[in-house]
Amino acid sequence: MANESMRQNWSDAADGWVENEAVYDAVLAPVTAAILERSDPRAGHRVLDVGCGSGTLLAKHAAAGAEVVGIDIAEGMAAAARRRVPGATVVVADAQTADLVDAVPGPPFDRVVSRFGVMFFEDPEAAFANLRRAAAPGARLVFACWRSEAENPIFSLGTDVLAARLDPAPEPPEPGAPGPTAFADAGRLESLLAASGWGRTRIDAFDFVCDFGFDGADGVEERLTMILNGRTGRLAEEQLVPRIGVDGWESVVEEVRDELRRHLVGGAVRLPAAVWLVTAVNPA
Ligand SMILES: C[S@@+](CC[C@H](N)C(=O)[O-])C[C@H]1O[C@@H](n2cnc3c(N)ncnc32)[C@H](O)[C@@H]1O
Repeated sequence: MANESMRQNWSDAADGWVENEAVYDAVLAPVTAAILERSDPRAGHRVLDVGCGSGTLLAKHAAAGAEVVGIDIAEGMAAAARRRVPGATVVVADAQTADLVDAVPGPPFDRVVSRFGVMFFEDPEAAFANLRRAAAPGARLVFACWRSEAENPIFSLGTDVLAARLDPAPEPPEPGAPGPTAFADAGRLESLLAASGWGRTRIDAFDFVCDFGFDGADGVEERLTMILNGRTGRLAEEQLVPRIGVDGWESVVEEVRDELRRHLVGGAVRLPAAVWLVTAVNPA
């Protein structure tokens, strides 16, 4: 499988993601709304959600009367999406290589959408071309992806405390490497979409606040849980517990909490966030 390490990573992360689905949905609500506005789903549309996770966009598009299909590389995510949206068809497959016409027979898709599910492909040009082959002429591609780590403190605040203790120290990601910020360079993203046959590409900067204080609390525990469930968090626990014991690990976790508390804005964890909102059309 082309994206085996990503399949492993997301399978390991799935339980934590699903448990915290309500937090992700609250914090990412502005992005969800912006995707829906551009997708503009209608009754009768057939919609494919790429890297559907636990099914947020599937639920929103189904509520608009669309027929919804999800694809996700992690079984735990797909199972959660099926529970959340019983009317959806959800397949466990690699969206880069899956033969979608065979995996989910039916008319070609009118919309191909994704909230942060398209940045993990080893070969993004092949992946976007594969998605386009399953799309109807005139179909719309709509997705959100992160801009650079420097513009998104969600990737560093608190996580840095754990990363500093990893051995070997983590290398900063190569620009463009598969991962959350693979498409930080909008010029590269535009070229990839053109090379994979999508037309009329628009890439708009969209800034919002990841507001972890959505329920009136300070959001520290919510953000901490996400950090510990992320790749660095899981790796840090795996390395540090044998080295410093459970009590030592608890003190490190307390340092992460302190770091988050030092950066509260208006009494809660509120992080500025920078994404690209991308739309394109299948010309053929
Ligand atoms: C950041 S999560 C986003 C989940 C969901 N879209 C949401 O916003 O809640 C990324 C998702 O993409 C999935 N994914 C990663 N690589 C994939 C691939 N090659 N094919 C299909 N899904 C993939 C992961 O399993 C994960 O569910």
